[in-house]
Amino acid sequence: MGHLWLIGMMGTGKTTVGRELARRRVEPFYDTDASVATTAGKSISEIFAEDGEERFRRLEREVVAEVATLPGGVVATGGGVILDPSNVERMRASGRTILLQTDETVLADRIAEEHGRPLLDGDPAARIREIAADRADRYIDAADVVIDAAGDPEEVINRVEQACGSS
Ligand code: S3P
Repeated sequence: MGHLWLIGMMGTGKTTVGRELARRRVEPFYDTDASVATTAGKSISEIFAEDGEERFRRLEREVVAEVATLPGGVVATGGGVILDPSNVERMRASGRTILLQTDETVLADRIAEEHGRPLLDGDPAARIREIAADRADRYIDAADVVIDAAGDPEEVINRVEQACGSS
């Protein structure tokens, strides 16, 4: 059946939801940010700071291309994966894209406590609003299925399972 690619803004819970969803489906879990960090031998923040966003996007593209060839599973992607049309093409050719979507207030609350998101330096709530507005159309265009990501991970996982079936 191919992959379930979880896409959406930072803070929508792609990693938490993806890991648990894969466990329930007894399928592999892939995390593109984690693979990029492993490939580079440093954190995402360090890649942005030392090598720049372009380098990060190149690594991300390579990881997406590689994951697309692996056995069907659940993939948590970085929020910006949809910026590159070749990523969107690869994701859709190797499975379905599931957009986790919620409003910016929820996102701002969720990310307020976290660190390590270089694109949110400065005023995270304001940056989230800006980025969400910039990307809104791209997310919708890239999505096969749109899931409400409000609430706790359990509820979100149930919604994904309902929309996608168990295989
Ligand atoms: C990014 C989101 C991050 C990470 C990088 C860039 C983005 O992933 O890939 O900081 O452009 O939205 P998460 O969505 O997992 O935070």
